[in-house]
Amino acid sequence: MSTDNVIEVENLTKRFGKFTAVDGVSFSVRRGEIFGFLGPNGAGKSTTIRMLCGLLGSSAGTARVGGFDINRDPEGVRQHIGYMSQKFSLYKDLTVAENLTFFGGMYGLEGVRRRNRAAAVVAQTGLGGVERQLAGTLSGALQQRLALGCALLHEPPILFLDEPTSGVDPIARRMFWALIHELSGRGVTVLVTTHFMDEAEFCGRIGFISAGNLIALDAPAALKRGAVREDLFEVDPEQLHGVAEKVAEVEGVADCAYFGTHLHVFCRPNAFTSETLQAAIAGRGVTVRRVGRVAPTLEDAFVRLTQKKE
Ligand SMILES: Nc1ncnc2c1ncn2[C@@H]1O[C@H](COP(=O)(O)OP(=O)(O)O)[C@@H](O)[C@H]1O
Ligand SMILES: [Mg+2]
Repeated sequence: MSTDNVIEVENLTKRFGKFTAVDGVSFSVRRGEIFGFLGPNGAGKSTTIRMLCGLLGSSAGTARVGGFDINRDPEGVRQHIGYMSQKFSLYKDLTVAENLTFFGGMYGLEGVRRRNRAAAVVAQTGLGGVERQLAGTLSGALQQRLALGCALLHEPPILFLDEPTSGVDPIARRMFWALIHELSGRGVTVLVTTHFMDEAEFCGRIGFISAGNLIALDAPAALKRGAVREDLFEVDPEQLHGVAEKVAEVEGVADCAYFGTHLHVFCRPNAFTSETLQAAIAGRGVTVRRVGRVAPTLEDAFVRLTQKKE
């Protein structure tokens, strides 16, 4: 293992009774990297993060975070990480400034240092001007930035962000990601979970997790190439209902999935052109407005990976 890796996870497993929520997961994250965890609800993302934060012991396997063993030295881990949990609770009837003072105290900051760090975090997260406002009256986007600010108070070199942008609008999500990139540029290592595919594109590498298993791990572009080996076509049918089943029956079609108001059709390489696919689909009694070749998105990769797994 390289010393550049600030997070090293080996065969990490969590069982709740007979149920295995995290099933032998291994990966490592380099200093300053933005590592994304992507997967459906219940896949085991939050459970993995809670183990890596030293909040939950593992049933088997282990991990080192910032050089500290999560099971032997969870306190060492906790001092070197910032954690924004999925249901982060700010004190809604405290002001922004009071929340920062309170959380600073929790991280053991005192006096001038506590005040300086609070001021730095306000500047960094763009909370200037709302310091005296009650946290509960802030917009969702500002609450999220305050939650990030609280996790940054003790200047942790490693950040765990569990669905930090759920429930905020696209513009606010962009701003939040600009902050994450800035932190990463300064050498902060970030492990972030999301189920927004567009956000996953902003990560250096992505781990796809499904039913407790890490089923793929790579940079976004490589992941798409590796997961989608077929030719991908986007089909715009006149009616969506029941179409996927009919298209899937066409000889040469490997898979078919709804994609917004369109259909994404994965075809054996070189089996079709747009014209011949349109004709083959028409042969199944489906009227199609347009067929075009498209490049796979992460969502396509995810569809293929989870179906192969099943
Ligand atoms: N404390 C717990 N006791 C029992 N089951 C749990 C507990 N925490 C999580 N789980 C289960 O483990 C699975 C993974 O949950 P979680 O890690 O929260 O998934 P994700 O964050 O990917 O949505 C889910 O099926 C969840 O119900
Ligand atoms: Mg979760």
